[in-house]
Amino acid sequence: MSERTSETGGVATGVRVVRTRAELRAALAGRGSVALVPTMGALHGGHASLMRLARPAADVLVVSLFVNPTQFGPGEDYDAYPRTPEADLAVCEAAGVDVVFMPDVAEMYPDGPDASVMVDPGTLGTVLEGAARPTHFRGVLTVVAKLFAAVRPDVAVFGEKDFQQLALIRRMVRDLGLDVRVEGHPIVREDDGLAMSSRNVYLSADQHQQALALSRALGAGAEASVEGADAVLAAARAVLDAEPGVDVDYLVLADPFLNPVDDSFAGDARLLVAARVGTTRLLDNRGLHVGREGA
Ligand code: PAF
Repeated sequence: MSERTSETGGVATGVRVVRTRAELRAALAGRGSVALVPTMGALHGGHASLMRLARPAADVLVVSLFVNPTQFGPGEDYDAYPRTPEADLAVCEAAGVDVVFMPDVAEMYPDGPDASVMVDPGTLGTVLEGAARPTHFRGVLTVVAKLFAAVRPDVAVFGEKDFQQLALIRRMVRDLGLDVRVEGHPIVREDDGLAMSSRNVYLSADQHQQALALSRALGAGAEASVEGADAVLAAARAVLDAEPGVDVDYLVLADPFLNPVDDSFAGDARLLVAARVGTTRLLDNRGLHVGREGA
């Protein structure tokens, strides 16, 4: 267990960095209710916003920093995934985090990542992101269950950018009867509209400009929402098609349970897009109301 000291004044700031479950239990003993923000590090403004939401929700705020190998498929960016622990600790410090849990792979997967019992995400784990990344959600749910077991949070906060992930975590909590309140936090965007993501660092300046088509497409879809589901998809698709640098994987309008909807649908919905810009896979989504308000 280590206490971090401020670089400017050499004064202990109170952020405790723990690397094992035993150290975590000792750090949390007798400290009251616990809020958890699980992350894979490479923290950005979106994460800081999750921490600000979580801070008043419990007596103690824990952030986990762990790049989880089981949610990366073969050939994905596990090795290249940005790892910036010093900068991450500074973000945590500034957000008033009490405890940072930074386990290594052996702590989270004592028999190795391949030898573990895993959480099966069911059919919702096979569509959208799950269709492109067949083992992804199994890895996500497994590590989130492990983090819940280690931290034992009263509340856990996740961003809505990974909307399907959030839906699956809520479902896991319900189906396995886990005693954790799950809170979703709206997407945090750069000033130009790009959804904040740890993977944005992979984008060149040109690719960043091309990637703005995602949020613009969602905006165009939302503007067409009163005309119905087909109009939403057509408006969003037109924006994406006009940007040759964006290779769309899916553009889907779904109900709040992530079932795709047809043109007869009216009500609250989510427009989701996944696309590759260069070699970087980006996600974005937006809530909207299809049809006239009240329909
Ligand atoms: O959203 C993420 O950063 C990760 O998928 C999570 C929830 C921390 C699990 O590794």
